[in-house]
Amino acid sequence: SKLYLRIKIKVFMRQSHSVDGVQANKDASLTADYGQRTSWGDDDPSVFVVTRVTGLQGEYQICNGYGTTKATPILRNHWSTYIVEADFRFISESGLTAVRIPVGWWIANDPRPPAPYVGGSLKTLDKAFKWAEKYNLGVIIDLHAAPGSQNPFEHSSSKDGSQDWGTTDTNIAQTVQVVDFLASRYAKSPSLLAVELMNEPLAPGVSLESLKTYYRDGYNAVRKHSSDAYVIMSNRLSSPDPTEFLGLAGGLPGSVIDVHYYALFNNMFDTFTVQQNIDFIKTNYSSDLSIVTRENGPLTFVGEWVAEWKVPNAAKQEFQMFANAQMDVYERATFGWAYWTLKNVNNHWSMEWMINNGYISLKN
Ligand SMILES: *[C@@H]1O[C@H](CO)[C@@H](O)[C@H](O)[C@H]1NC(C)=O
Repeated sequence: SKLYLRIKIKVFMRQSHSVDGVQANKDASLTADYGQRTSWGDDDPSVFVVTRVTGLQGEYQICNGYGTTKATPILRNHWSTYIVEADFRFISESGLTAVRIPVGWWIANDPRPPAPYVGGSLKTLDKAFKWAEKYNLGVIIDLHAAPGSQNPFEHSSSKDGSQDWGTTDTNIAQTVQVVDFLASRYAKSPSLLAVELMNEPLAPGVSLESLKTYYRDGYNAVRKHSSDAYVIMSNRLSSPDPTEFLGLAGGLPGSVIDVHYYALFNNMFDTFTVQQNIDFIKTNYSSDLSIVTRENGPLTFVGEWVAEWKVPNAAKQEFQMFANAQMDVYERATFGWAYWTLKNVNNHWSMEWMINNGYISLKN
């Protein structure tokens, strides 16, 4: 089909880093000057198959790869089976007090989001609010994917590794609209704890200036509808200055600064021993957190952490020490912390699995 062809060509172009070899023919087919032999098989990286291609594997790729029609039942099934009411009961019974729910900007256009996205995410968030209300949990709505993508990763729904958020004023205004929409829809719910304006903007692509403009406007959009919902502002990844939003947030009551700490994503951790990991939490991340946590300053939130590391074949007791070291430090964040994530196919990334198997014990 045409769509299939388009996807092949698109991925092919990324592989070859060349866009000048694609040609439209009179019979409406496209030919591409690949310059190499290709099998077009499932193990051929020039063909889009989300489980077999190394590259981005996010919601955009699922929707674009399958096409909206085929992706619709796949995502709807995921939304209705992956996190269910029993999970909210579990969260509540574990002594946790809130859930941080990532959403994409197209939720504001539900039930008819622009292609290739699939409608139905808004109903799913509505359902989460109902369960949160029932089990007395707070909800942090986390705008995880902003229009144009605020980082090049799949979780900001980058199409192809590009990062364009904040490069136009329209972009910023559109994001404020999304926040306005979400705040307006959920302001009356007793479970609305916070709106997080944006997850993990990456410097220097996201400039300090555009993000300050957006944070101020986004804050005002939340305050239009709610006087008491917290407004969370993420520090920029790769920023040279972790205090760059303290001034702005400090002047806006109910603001929270979000920082994410992982003992991953840096080659330094590849060779760390158990003790080195724990020391790093206790000295470096502890000091990083105290730099942003100031008396009379905004609240602070370790919005993502995980008890996963690069230590090979670690014992259960070592994971317990690692998790405890992190909780001991992160509980000093004045707004709290959140584990990434609740459920995951990889056990250590799944807080439910970690709790159920005794790797994490919450102090209640
Ligand atoms: C971690 O903290 C120690 C002790 O303060 C310091 O010597 C070291 O440079 C820090 N490492 C990094 C990567 O920040």
